[in-house]
Amino acid sequence: MARQQAHPAKGGGERQTVTVWDPVVRLFHWGLVLAVATALATGFLAPENWLDVHLAAGAAVAALLVLRLVWGLAGPSHARFRAFAYRPGETLAYARSLVAGAAPHYRGHNPLGALMVFALLGLLAALVVSGLVDLGGVEKRGPLAAFTSFATGRSFGEIHEFLAFAALGLVALHLAGVAFSSRHEGINLPRAMVTGEKPARVPADRPRPAAARTVPALGLVAVFVAAGAGATAALAGLPGLGVPQEPLDAIYKRECGDCHIAFHPSLANAADWAAMMAGLDRHFGEDASLPPETVATLTAYLTTHAAEAVDTKAANWLRRRDAAEPLSITATPFWKRRHADIPDAVFGSRAVGARSACGACHRDAETGLFADAAIAVPDPSSQPKE
Ligand code: HEC
Ligand code: HEC
Repeated sequence: MARQQAHPAKGGGERQTVTVWDPVVRLFHWGLVLAVATALATGFLAPENWLDVHLAAGAAVAALLVLRLVWGLAGPSHARFRAFAYRPGETLAYARSLVAGAAPHYRGHNPLGALMVFALLGLLAALVVSGLVDLGGVEKRGPLAAFTSFATGRSFGEIHEFLAFAALGLVALHLAGVAFSSRHEGINLPRAMVTGEKPARVPADRPRPAAARTVPALGLVAVFVAAGAGATAALAGLPGLGVPQEPLDAIYKRECGDCHIAFHPSLANAADWAAMMAGLDRHFGEDASLPPETVATLTAYLTTHAAEAVDTKAANWLRRRDAAEPLSITATPFWKRRHADIPDAVFGSRAVGARSACGACHRDAETGLFADAAIAVPDPSSQPKE
């Protein structure tokens, strides 16, 4: 039996309350509020290198969804999906009675509230999935990195962003619905989600008492979450699709890493590398000439490991060249756009030195990956070492 019996309110008043929301539902609800708020804030507002916080919030959302799914099938009466799975006709009738100002009261979710619960759960599940595809294809991280192309990742990234705006809208609608229902029912509904209690005067709706199978349910949640985390870790360990695995060639690093860092070969198309190597005597105003055999070796290395052979975001984004300066990376439209907010003083600082000093801010520049989590811009005001 679910705990439906009335018991006296604290303080000895006459008001009687019933427990509607069990501790797991309440923990789920407020945990989800925290996780979704963190995910939305970091997704919309935080700089790129906060990605790990965003991912932790997303993982928490996923784990909470698993918990809710199991609890919706095996929790106590009011937590069960079937307790608030209204037929479309019922929902429509409720909406009509609401407009007419004569909506009935419900102890659990009313039909429109229930619709919101299912919409939010479905939307959050879609956000988790689209986020994982985005992460795999673009960042080449997470369980899908080994199977997802950059192009697929980008498409799902756009879906992810659209769904995030939809989530903002649904959250606003949810808050409006809670505010309205609180007035309509004369109950502080947010507080009821904290204490779990509602006044007993609200008639019990659709009483289909069910006992919670707490231990097996929570055990199942633990198994699902552990299996998910294990599978994620195992898949994330596979090499990313189209990610270069070899370290930079030693001769290349020696010959082309003197005046600036040895740029990863995936940062330019093969044709652009070939053109550059054919004109080393007029290399950005410098004479960078090398013996013909070395030029041949390096041209072969650069052209076979060029952007076309790689599927990282840097290779995809930097491929589009500026027509006037086709050999420059820092003149590409993407590079200029993405670094527009960084002050000249930072590039000119002792710690960085030049726009082309990618490695000063991208700790993984040598791998060609340019992961969000590996971005760390040095503070130009800090005292340079003498
Ligand atoms: C004598 C010094 C010198 C050597 C050696 C040299 N470079 Fe450069 N390189 C420069 C200068 C100067 C620039 C323009 C300023 C800058 O971007 O730092 C430049 C720019 C570049 C750029 C464009 C970077 C940007 O800002 O977009 C690439 C790519 C590049 N070099 C590749 C190479 C390769 C490949 C080699 C080896 C074959 C090489 N460089 C050897 C001096 C050199
Ligand atoms: C002074 C520091 C600094 C230098 C130098 C620098 N970057 Fe960046 N780069 C950043 C920052 C910060 C961002 C993130 C900008 C943002 O929030 O969109 C970024 C973003 C990027 C991105 C996009 C990452 C993403 O997923 O959004 C790429 C690719 C990139 N940089 C490549 C380069 C290359 C190639 C070089 C060298 C030619 C370079 N950067 C030099 C600071 C730097």
